[in-house]
Amino acid sequence: RTFAKWTWRLTKLAGLAGLAWVGYGIYESRNPADQPEPEAGKKTLVILGTGWGAVSLLKKLDTENYNVIVVSPRNYFLFTPLLPSCTTGTIEHRSIMEPIRNFLRHKKAAVKFYEAEATKIDYEKKIVYINDDSDIKGDISSTEVPFDMLVVGVGAENATFGIPGVREHGLFLKEVGDAQMIRKRIMDCCETATFKDQDPEEIKRLLHMVVVGGGPTGVEFAGELQDFFHSDLKKWIPEITENFHVTLVEALPNVLPMFSKQLIDYTEKTFKEETITIRTKTMVKKVTDKYIEAESMGPDGKKIIEKIPFGLLVWATGNALRPLVKDLMMQIPAQKDSRRGLAVNEYLVVKGTENVWAVGDCAVANYAPTAQVAAQEGAFLARMFNQMAKSTEIEQQLVQLSEAQEKATDKEKRNQIFAEIKDLQKRLRRVKQVGPFEYSHQGSLAYIGSEKAVADISWLSGNFATGGTLTYFFWRSAYLSMCFSTRNRILVMLDWVKSKAFGRDVSRE
Ligand code: FAD
Ligand code: NAI
Repeated sequence: RTFAKWTWRLTKLAGLAGLAWVGYGIYESRNPADQPEPEAGKKTLVILGTGWGAVSLLKKLDTENYNVIVVSPRNYFLFTPLLPSCTTGTIEHRSIMEPIRNFLRHKKAAVKFYEAEATKIDYEKKIVYINDDSDIKGDISSTEVPFDMLVVGVGAENATFGIPGVREHGLFLKEVGDAQMIRKRIMDCCETATFKDQDPEEIKRLLHMVVVGGGPTGVEFAGELQDFFHSDLKKWIPEITENFHVTLVEALPNVLPMFSKQLIDYTEKTFKEETITIRTKTMVKKVTDKYIEAESMGPDGKKIIEKIPFGLLVWATGNALRPLVKDLMMQIPAQKDSRRGLAVNEYLVVKGTENVWAVGDCAVANYAPTAQVAAQEGAFLARMFNQMAKSTEIEQQLVQLSEAQEKATDKEKRNQIFAEIKDLQKRLRRVKQVGPFEYSHQGSLAYIGSEKAVADISWLSGNFATGGTLTYFFWRSAYLSMCFSTRNRILVMLDWVKSKAFGRDVSRE
């Protein structure tokens, strides 16, 4: 009985200690310590963007070594892997956003943040021109930011390949605003389809949800949308059950080309069971307000153009260069042959420059444009910049010691300084030994709907492919652990519980 009593007391004590720990964590995160301003004379490091690349750099950067300035039109970090879940309300968008201000206030030395778009980089003059494109503007809304070092982490924009009508009539899925628009449009289509005396053909069109692009964005969105229909929409609006339909259109012979063959087959089989239509080898050529024109091969081998009506069109055909990046590439002769982004060397230095680095989707380093790559590139740059600052400090100390050695008259003193110089030189060599960037692929994961996911995981120098409900739990726990903060993790978990218990919210905001 004594043992049980003590076990109970210890459990209570551990519980209290746990609560105190969480409480202290919350207190600390809400009340960060004062930050010193960076010392005058430090180099100005300008970072463009608050996405995966830029934020992972900022996370690991010792900000006291530089005068750090961050410029981005978005004053938050967005956890993109869970963005498709926001289009149906499985997760609320604020649960996957982390304010950049909260994060920067916890850095050792102060970092300046300007909510603005970089409109031009003048490489020769070492100036970034910035513009406040928010709704509220002050007397000054355009200005310049000079830099000594620049990191470009502005990501990419949506590719449309110049196909007419895409920008006017399609919706994208890259930013929070896109997910909100899709969520609203889904409900709008459902409510309009049930409008009194609606024509049957029009009902069919309004309830036809077309997704163009069978990459992971298109597949994950199609899966989420079908889930929404099965678990909620058809229960609250039974009239739409007959006509609600999701179609995924892909130009290549199969979806998810970056996954292994067995997972592609598994995804296509799951979609079939879920009654999602996959139209492969079908290339969209034109978009109007009510239908897309798609080209495919007929049974006789001849090309056919077909009009496919839609109520909602989500366009997910990959990435294109931002104008800012294109303009910078035009200023640097060494970039003239690069097409997909800023060509960088193995240290992520933009080729043809000395003081400009690029990370993430805007850089071309022979890796896929993923969050995983961007995050590793950002962390690599942080380590490199920290080392560079250390070596500058050691070099300055060496100059001072050499001067002191020359002035010293006492032999013993000179020997002592000589030994110190030797030590510092050794340290400098160690610090300067930064290896090139090496990407370590952890695997690819994608949600495919109906509580199933697919995963190609790199494991002990081999590859391991898996798909199904267990993989779905793995997908959930992996993304939960990767969320930016504890706050995000708690919010995402609560959203999952909320949407399971009460269903997703079908009100049209
Ligand atoms: P981003 O994260 O896009 O950030 C770019 C930043 O630059 C933003 O803050 C933006 O506001 C800012 N910016 C833009 N223009 C300017 C300007 N002119 N001046 C200053 N700042 C500017 N990858 C995975 O590995 N796993 C996944 O599960 C996954 N899921 C995804 C789901 C979706 C729906 C999407 C769209 C992408 C997904 N990705 C995933 C890909 C991943 O999100 C990108 O590869 C990653 O965001 C690239 O990081 P980045 O830092 O280059 O760009
Ligand atoms: P993507 O480039 O991976 O796929 C786009 C697809 O659209 C291609 O398969 C292409 O053939 C198709 N396409 C292009 N034009 C077309 C047309 N006119 N008609 C029909 N089909 C057309 O793009 P996505 O999915 O937006 O992904 C972008 C990047 O983000 C990728 O690197 C991807 O790996 C990454 N990502 C990763 C995720 C994950 O790991 N779970 C989730 C989402 C994105």
